[in-house]
Amino acid sequence: MIIAIDGPAASGKGTLAKRLADHLGFACLDTGLLYRAVARDVAARGFRLEDTWAAVATARGLDPLELEDPDLRGTAAGDAASIVARIPEVRAALLAYQRDFARRPPGAVLDGRDIGTVVCPDADVKIFVTATAEIRAKRRHCEFEARGAGVAYETVLTDIIARDTRDAGRPNAPMAVAADAMLLDTSNLSIEAAFDAAVGLITRKTGH
Ligand code: DC
Repeated sequence: MIIAIDGPAASGKGTLAKRLADHLGFACLDTGLLYRAVARDVAARGFRLEDTWAAVATARGLDPLELEDPDLRGTAAGDAASIVARIPEVRAALLAYQRDFARRPPGAVLDGRDIGTVVCPDADVKIFVTATAEIRAKRRHCEFEARGAGVAYETVLTDIIARDTRDAGRPNAPMAVAADAMLLDTSNLSIEAAFDAAVGLITRKTGH
């Protein structure tokens, strides 16, 4: 069974995907980490993120098993990922790995921007996780405060809006709600409540 979870930056889709995978006993792939790792490696080799040749070569040589780097989780890595993710050949180079992963028995949960539309258009369940930009920024800002990082709320909000715009506006595999996706708006939901709601959607769709 394939479960596709898409949604914008800081929507909580990663946390939700992991919890669903644990609950179902499925494998889980955070596809954003692939783009984050490509961006990290392009920069580490001294190339600009917009350098198509360098980004494509890096994506083709990426070892998807090396995604444990904690630096990949930061905001800068997310912004950089969104830049290399615009390059169609980078996306193409990462496609086979994602599709193979999705076929792992007994099932897999993949989260990203184009899972339900491009990577796994035949997924058994598609959930598009949303929340207002203000609420996503507020949650992210709270995480920063908890870690003692002095980032202003306005900066976080501006960054989230810029990333949404870039991810939804690119011509190739933009962030989009698949026609057969179910919307899960977590604006007024706790993590627990969002998880319960997602389990309800999966049960309704598959009977599991
Ligand atoms: O989900 P994330 O924030 O880790 O993703 C980082 C960036 O990677 C995101 O802004 C756009 C890109 N991305 C993508 O284009 N397609 C995906 N399936 C996942 C991420």
